[in-house]
Amino acid sequence: MLLTEIDHVAIAVRDLEAAIDYYARAFGATVEHREIVESDGVEEALLKVAESYIQLLTPTSETSPVAKAIEKRGEGLHHIGYRVDDCGVALDSMIAAGATAIDKAPRPGSRGTTVAFIHPKGSFGTLIELVQENPAAH
Ligand code: CO
Repeated sequence: MLLTEIDHVAIAVRDLEAAIDYYARAFGATVEHREIVESDGVEEALLKVAESYIQLLTPTSETSPVAKAIEKRGEGLHHIGYRVDDCGVALDSMIAAGATAIDKAPRPGSRGTTVAFIHPKGSFGTLIELVQENPAAH
């Protein structure tokens, strides 16, 4: 079994501050980590839940894939992050199982992780992110 944890559930929102405030009022949730990932055109806020995260995600530009997703389908569930020990091994295994990789090789993700995205087509309609935590990650 290559999966070690549900790393995060990513929810695309238009107003990150409003979403953080809502989760704070509803659950008492606090932001564990916040980061702008320019290469992905997103700003994210991670709310820790046990050993996993809720990732609130907002686009930083109109050309961001997340902006396009919100335009097309509205706010809501965007992708699921599966934690793995080795992103490359998991990516190869998924490709061997018939998955369509968006990232042909593992690349840097937020909070010092190594990630690779898998296209929803061929993965039962779910955008999958493989997430490998590195020693520097927190
Ligand atoms: Co993610």
